[in-house]
Amino acid sequence: MSTEYYSDILVIGSGVSGLSLALKAAEHAKVTLITKKGKVDTATNLAQGGIAAVLSVEDSVEDHIRDTLISGDGLSKEDVTRIVTTEGPARVRELMDFGVRFQMQSNGKDFDLGMEGGHSARRVAHASDLTGKEIERVLLEQTAVHPNIEILENHLAVDLLIASRADSSGATTAQNDRCLGAYVLNRESGRVEIRRALVTVLCTGGCGKVYLYTTNPDIATGDGVAMAYRAGAKVANLEFIQFHPTCFYNPHIKNFLISEAVRGEGAILLNQAGQPFMKQYDPRGDLATRDAVARGIDAEMKKSGSDCVFLDITHKPADFIQKRFPNIYETCKRYGVDITKEPIPVVPAAHYMCGGVVVDHWGQSSLAGLMALGETSCTGLHGANRLASNSLLEAVVYAHRAAQKMPEILADIRSLPDCGPIQSWKTGGAATLEEGILVNHNWDGIRRLMWDYVGIVRSTKRLQLMRERLDWLLKEIKSHFYDYLLTPDLVELRNLAVVAELIVHSASWRKESRGLHYTLDYPNKDDANFLKDTVLDKAERRSAL
Ligand code: SIN
Repeated sequence: MSTEYYSDILVIGSGVSGLSLALKAAEHAKVTLITKKGKVDTATNLAQGGIAAVLSVEDSVEDHIRDTLISGDGLSKEDVTRIVTTEGPARVRELMDFGVRFQMQSNGKDFDLGMEGGHSARRVAHASDLTGKEIERVLLEQTAVHPNIEILENHLAVDLLIASRADSSGATTAQNDRCLGAYVLNRESGRVEIRRALVTVLCTGGCGKVYLYTTNPDIATGDGVAMAYRAGAKVANLEFIQFHPTCFYNPHIKNFLISEAVRGEGAILLNQAGQPFMKQYDPRGDLATRDAVARGIDAEMKKSGSDCVFLDITHKPADFIQKRFPNIYETCKRYGVDITKEPIPVVPAAHYMCGGVVVDHWGQSSLAGLMALGETSCTGLHGANRLASNSLLEAVVYAHRAAQKMPEILADIRSLPDCGPIQSWKTGGAATLEEGILVNHNWDGIRRLMWDYVGIVRSTKRLQLMRERLDWLLKEIKSHFYDYLLTPDLVELRNLAVVAELIVHSASWRKESRGLHYTLDYPNKDDANFLKDTVLDKAERRSAL
């Protein structure tokens, strides 16, 4: 028998989206925020660069909109881009009022704004190269003491609770379904709890762990997208996985990012022969948008057969480098690279999921009672390629909008008829999966195959091979899932496999190259057929995932 708990709002995830929404929505409701590991195990906490917003008189919202639309390569929605860029500056100032210490100029009044690829102006507010950590610190401090917020660590959402409502004709369809909360695995007790809520908000971040090399933390297993898709919500644009061009190449440290801000301050990419190369691939050079830079590095590595390229900022004064990038300087030094004296070995790595759960202007998904924010969502801002440092911005703007709309959403849901009791989680005659090797083997297999077949450069053949392997893997994972007692690893493996399948399906559908999706078989853009989102819906695909 599963124990049942109730709150008005269930927030899943403790990054900037989840914490901001919880803090603001707690003004009108009781919020339970669950996180599958510790509170600080989030992508937000690792974000280095900062938050892009128009914060200088030398910049304009129109320029920020233009840069975002160019980067999005035809798929960023202009109305959404206008909302986010217009509302963004107020949200950044609000973070300061909460206590976030952004770097200011010596006059103490003006922001010290950073430059990043694809931006036509200095626009990135930052706290040196530890911006995400600083934002997370402040939001955690505030949520921890709020009387209406309960934070539960080590609680992993397994699946959403869904009720089907009959319409006036008595029919039940996916459009009438409603989310009632989630089944949640309490990692300490090992039991699956029923966490009921009027509104459930997915803030689970992205899916970088679907790839062998990633800048993401271990929690990034695509849980929100996988759960939403299984529950029948629409998801979109999952072929657009952003590879960050510069992840530190070192066997002893995984996922350490070398912020794009380093290139923003003048660092140059060099090949094995010590030659700059980006201008050969894009006239914007080292500060081209990320899709172009990652492809340039990939091509250069393939050409020379080398394992990495190099990022050189040694021409800048050492004290500037140490002050502007203290975290990068110290970390590289610990691993034997003094970035003030020698170039940094770097490789591209999976970094950001530009698609996600389709949401409206307030963060509401296509399923009643289910919302999604931040990297988990697809608002329409990022299109086919996110502009650097637009993600923290989108997160705070949409968390604010979702919280503003919350009283209305809660009132609407309260007016619906009660859905009755929820079934306990069925463990059946499940036994413990003793052979952890089965999970590890599939986990490693998916990540390696996705890296090799569905990476920066794709082809029809590689996508087809990946689909065949995934069909087989998904069958095996499904049988483990229902035959054995749930473990966190099994839950995450299932989500990873579902998201991999969604990425491969979306990439196979898009028979053109646009933004982050580049395929050798269709190297050009095809606006006539593909100037649209790749929307997937389980009911329409009749998918059994
Ligand atoms: C970076 O600092 O390069 C990452 C920031 C981002 O992904 O927007």
